Amino acid sequence: MKAIILSGGKGTRLRPLTYTGAKQLVPVANKPILWYGIESIVEAGITEIGIIISPETGEEVKAKTGNGDRFGAKITYILQDQPAGLAHAVKIAQPFLGDSPFVMYLGDNLVQSELGLFLEHFHSHQLDALTMLCPVENPSAFGVAEVDEKGRLLRLVEKPKVPPSNLALVGIYIFSNAIHGAIAAIQPSARGELEITDAIQTLIEQQKAVEAKQIRGWWLDTGKKDDLLEANRVILDTCCMEPKNQGEMDADSKIIGRVQLGAGTKVVNSTIRGPVVIGDNCHIENCFIGPYTSIADQVKMVDVDLEHSVLLQGATVEGIHHRIVDSLIGQRAQLKEAPKRPKALRFMVGDDCQIELA
Ligand code: G1P
Repeated sequence: MKAIILSGGKGTRLRPLTYTGAKQLVPVANKPILWYGIESIVEAGITEIGIIISPETGEEVKAKTGNGDRFGAKITYILQDQPAGLAHAVKIAQPFLGDSPFVMYLGDNLVQSELGLFLEHFHSHQLDALTMLCPVENPSAFGVAEVDEKGRLLRLVEKPKVPPSNLALVGIYIFSNAIHGAIAAIQPSARGELEITDAIQTLIEQQKAVEAKQIRGWWLDTGKKDDLLEANRVILDTCCMEPKNQGEMDADSKIIGRVQLGAGTKVVNSTIRGPVVIGDNCHIENCFIGPYTSIADQVKMVDVDLEHSVLLQGATVEGIHHRIVDSLIGQRAQLKEAPKRPKALRFMVGDDCQIELA
């Protein structure tokens, strides 16, 4: 058994963060989204993993993720030189996959998946395709399944205007080598891509063994700011995060609940109420940091109250006299107190940023 993880795409919905990096590397609880997928594949017993990368962000994905040693896996990088669709990605991965059955995992999906159980079902029922479904409020944004009253899969459609159900296709699939023939038989969709949904629909029409099962856990979309904050909250809440302090804290500081402090991080006269993760080499002074906050490495925070937020590497937040909530602050961004005179707000705001002032 092998696996491929798709880690290309432009990440337009997560701009401005994705101007400077891959959407799959945006961290949730200080870990790139992509790595959750790798870990769940390895946990299910698959160690031969191909990661499909794009020319735009491939080098960054490679540099950050490495050859797989840190995950106990062997990672091969496969370049998809144009965004020609999920089924196209499988096509170019065929030399890596050979005739092996495989898991296909979309690298921007965060799923509490029980992948091992799904693999068992795939093998014991000798399936050609097993897809995962999850009820959603906006099925038109996804691939959607039509099932009969017994839950058997009848039809799949990609982003239908009139959805046949509320069951969306989660971005994790298991295939036998029959998928390659189906991909060879499909044409590009209206958005100009070879859709994996159409290839699975072809398998259904060819009377191959295709099933869909609903997942029991959560599936988190990380497409937009509020989705990402929600993903951060759920991961901090549900993933077994042990309190760990590798940093330094003075006697005037207090840590409450599940909090992780990275190496070289200094906390001075501050209160941190978990769940919170703070990376390495941060400086936190005169702050209150509230629940559901993730702070990456090398962040500086002085005189700030903040909660339910995500700060990326190298951000600086100083002397803000309002509580900051529900915020996503990008790499090296600076939020600072303005000089007293002339009394004014001063901005240098990049493309696609959003600012809400009280
Ligand atoms: C892709 C699939 C879609 C699936 C979704 C899950 O959509 O085409 O069927 O429901 O991933 O994340 P895309 O992200 O390419 O719009």
